[in-house]
Amino acid sequence: MRKHQRVAGVTNSYSIMALDDDPTMTLTLQTYFRRSGYHVDVENDPYRAIERIRDGQYDILLLDFLMTPICGDQVVEQIRSFNQDLFIILLTGHKSMAPPIKTIRDLDIQGYYEKSDRFDQLELLVESCIKSIKQMRTIQNYQQGLTEMMETMPRIYNLRGREEIAQQLLETAVGFLDGRGGYLALCWEHLLDHRPANWQAKPYLVHAIGAEPSLEELDQLSRRLQEEGIVQLEDNWIVAPIISEQEVAGYMGIQTQEEPQYYQRQLLGIFARQASSALWNAMLRRLLIEKNGELVEANKVLRENYEEVVTAMRLLVDTKDIYTRGHSDRVSYYSVRIARAMGKDEDFCERLRVAGLFHDIGKIGVSDEILFKDSRLTDQEYAQMKEHSANGARILSAITQFQPIVPIVRAHHERVDGKGYPDGLRDEQIPLEARIISVADSYDAMTSNRRYRSSLGEEKAVSELLAGKGAQFDSGLVDVFLQVLQDKETLQKDLASLEE
Ligand SMILES: [Fe+2]
Repeated sequence: MRKHQRVAGVTNSYSIMALDDDPTMTLTLQTYFRRSGYHVDVENDPYRAIERIRDGQYDILLLDFLMTPICGDQVVEQIRSFNQDLFIILLTGHKSMAPPIKTIRDLDIQGYYEKSDRFDQLELLVESCIKSIKQMRTIQNYQQGLTEMMETMPRIYNLRGREEIAQQLLETAVGFLDGRGGYLALCWEHLLDHRPANWQAKPYLVHAIGAEPSLEELDQLSRRLQEEGIVQLEDNWIVAPIISEQEVAGYMGIQTQEEPQYYQRQLLGIFARQASSALWNAMLRRLLIEKNGELVEANKVLRENYEEVVTAMRLLVDTKDIYTRGHSDRVSYYSVRIARAMGKDEDFCERLRVAGLFHDIGKIGVSDEILFKDSRLTDQEYAQMKEHSANGARILSAITQFQPIVPIVRAHHERVDGKGYPDGLRDEQIPLEARIISVADSYDAMTSNRRYRSSLGEEKAVSELLAGKGAQFDSGLVDVFLQVLQDKETLQKDLASLEE
């Protein structure tokens, strides 16, 4: 069936310009194509015609070849300098007067018509141009829709609230699909967060621009969308599914101004898939934030438990060895100061803090006679005393949170020359934290009063550290510690606050 039937008064949306220096010819063309429903303007002067085409919206130019003052090919040349889209059909009086085929190609002329008193062939040519124009418009609309989608989606992905996202999605779709209205219906069943108590009675969360769809309509859609992908309904409605994990989890319906076109259905399908990801991403992000909050809370409780265990164990150590009370605190403090001076991270410093506090916890297992003996220890007693580092490691290993400090406590009496205990490790074999504690432990032992001797004094203690470089102590760490000791004011202040 011919598309443009000759019915008076019926118009289509396509415009023709007819240019011929013969007014009878332009009038005939105008009358003929108007009857087919086209909008037709006529012009007999080539220059005026070019200006009208520059200013107006024409789809097709019917153009006489032989004219004065310029011929058809020159007219086309000028038009092509500013308009590439216009479809041009060249009319000529006689075959022999036609321009060469090369000119027709070069100027991008779509058709060629030899004038006669019948216009059937010309009409066919015009219709074929109209088909191409329609396809071109579809492609342009499609591209425009895709561009709008590409520009909007990153913005929508950045939105946080579901309400806000749904509203934006809907407004975008109605906009680029030339819609009268639309809705976005999401099944509560698939929305895992913030469901109202009565969600089963009202199974859809509906956002709408214009009228909302009824529950029956939505229920019927579910089945059809599973089978058909995109559904077209009465009154220019098109509906695409919102998908979650390969199931239909909602619908996006748009009512277009005119009969929905192929490109509109396709664009809605693409957009609904983008909308699905945006919605479910936002939901997962929200769930993640909530779960993360719960984890932080659980971590806080764990941390509090840990601190309680630390406090309880410190009380235990302090009760056992009353004369060295404060020693563990100071060893812990000096060790952390050394670590900070070395630029170590917070985890490292925290390990040293706790390891410093408990480095001597194994002394719980040493008998009071040995621990509190005023005179020198016998070899046997000393051997028993030396077991405290391995014993301490064993005690701490029973508590999960203390695992990281177990090897440190075990090695705090090792020496870099390999003559320490319990394993006779050397240099780098000894954990760095244990080498640090060794320096801090020795210095504090020498500068505090013990049952069996008084403080050696700071000067003597420092010279002992220097003498032990590379034998008992890691040389580099002794240097770092001596640097730390330079800042006497801070040390005095901090040590005083430890005794409070
Ligand atoms: Fe010790």
